[in-house]
Order: sequence, then C-alpha cells, then structure tokens
Amino acid sequence: MAGVLGNAVAHSKSPKLHRHWLQRYNLRGDYVPLHVNEADFSQVVRTLPKMGFVGANVTIPHKIAALEVADQVSDRAILIGAANTLIFRGDGSIYADNTDGYGFLANLRQGAPGWAASDGPCAVFGAGGAARAVISSLLESGAEKIYLSNRTRPKAEALKSDFGSRVQIIEWVQAGNMVEDAALVVNTTSLGMVGAAEFRVPLDGLRRGTVVTDLVYNPLRTPLLQQADQAGCITVDGLGMLLHQGVPGFERWFGVRPEVDDALRAAILG
Ligand code: ATR
Repeated sequence: MAGVLGNAVAHSKSPKLHRHWLQRYNLRGDYVPLHVNEADFSQVVRTLPKMGFVGANVTIPHKIAALEVADQVSDRAILIGAANTLIFRGDGSIYADNTDGYGFLANLRQGAPGWAASDGPCAVFGAGGAARAVISSLLESGAEKIYLSNRTRPKAEALKSDFGSRVQIIEWVQAGNMVEDAALVVNTTSLGMVGAAEFRVPLDGLRRGTVVTDLVYNPLRTPLLQQADQAGCITVDGLGMLLHQGVPGFERWFGVRPEVDDALRAAILG
C-alpha cells in the first residue's frame, strides 16, 4: 500500500498515476488518497507502516511537516525545505525525499532534449515552494545564472540567501526583461491556471529557440506556452513534471522503475 496525504486531496492526480503503473507492471498493491488534517499528520504517518504501507506522497499543506516527522532526510529535501515523498523502511524508520526538482528536470530533458544547463541564463517566475525545487535542481545541474522575479520581493530574497550568488533578483515590474537573454524560461507561479489570475508579464523579448516551460498544467497549453509557441520557442508543458516526480517513490515502494510515456499521459488526461 501507498498513498497521498493532503488536505484537500480529492483532486490529486497521484492515485490515478500510481494505479496506472501498478496495473501496467502487474504488481499487487494499491495507492489511495488520504485526507489528513494538519493536527493529525504526524500521528497518521507513524501509523501507516503498521497498516502495511510502504510509503506515501505528501502534498499541501504537509510538505514541511513531512520533513519534521522523518528520521532521515535526503540532501535535496533539506535544500528545498520540504518533502513530497516518504519511504517507510523495514526497521520502522521514515525517510523523506523531495522529487519535485527531479521531476522538473526529467520532464525538461524529455520535452527539450537539446537543452543543457550551460546554454545560458534561466529565468524563473515565482518564489514559492515549487520555485525552490526548480532552482535547486537547476543549480545542481550546473546553471550558472538564474534570474528570479516574484511579486513579493522578500520571498525572492529568501531564496537568494539560501541558494547563493548565482541567483539574481529582478523586480516584478521588470520581469519581462528576464526572458531576453534566457535560454530557459520557467513559470512556477499559479498565474495562468484555471481559476487563477492571468499571466500578464510582457514577453515581447522571447527569442526563437528558447525553451519555455510552465508548471501549470491545467490548462495543458497555458497562455504562456501559446505565446512562446508563437515566438518560435521550444515549449514543455507541466504535466510531465507531475508524472516524473512520481517515479522515484514508485520505484522505492514497489521495486520497478516506471516509464513516463504517451500512454501514461493519455491515461492521466483521460
Ligand atoms: P507553490 O508551492 O506551488 O510554489 P506557493 O508557495 O503558494 O505555491 O507560491 C505561489 C507563487 O505564485 C508565488 O511566487 C506567488 O507570488 P507571491 O510570493 O507574491 O505570493 C505567485 N503568485 C500567485 N498569485 C499571483 C499573482 N496574482 N501575481 C503574481 N504572482 C502570483
């Protein structure tokens, strides 16, 4: 057994994702959504291994609490300051990892195989939890300069103080300027998502060949990606990040490294 702990968790795509893989690889087991309140989180996590769970994903609002409940934490989860994957070991201990940055890079490599971190500056919109995962993975893969812009500047400054001098803050009102010499453009904000505000940053500076990716995957072709397509950019949608971030957890829990391919995408979208 595995599952996803969150509040709310009803709209999580993770059960569909992991059940697809369980079926595809003919494995016995199940993956369930678990609605858990913040006050109950650590008690629930401690109980799951006793009920036959091998691990769990963790989503909003428990990603920080997941670090605290763990006996051991991966380096990348420490760097990001949050965990999204828990592994319950045979000796009763809990290991916490964060696979969001891995999922981000794996999606980018699949969707834009020609991109390399050494191609030039990366422009990142947003400084929330998702931005931390994106920035840490970009730095780890060798990015030399990351432009970062966020509506609330102190949050961008907090990231810079954690991640260092390769991060350069750009005022939100000038965020459009970041894309002019960027080799990679990443939206980590919720702008452009169904029900959220529009992504209004002017993108006239986008150049042909720049890789543009949006973490928003509802809609799949966000206005940012559409605009980037029109400018001749290479675009990568955000669904793949969600699919790839599930790979390390599934492999640790069930012993098979699962594939992310078109059949999986179709199953999740269907
Ligand atoms: P996540 O974990 O998905 O990154 P989050 O931590 O809530 O979620 O971060 C949301 C991001 O979207 C933040 O960068 C946020 O900007 P603020 O730090 O200024 O809040 C950004 N965001 C959300 N709504 C926005 C809006 N209307 N205009 C600009 N940025 C917005």
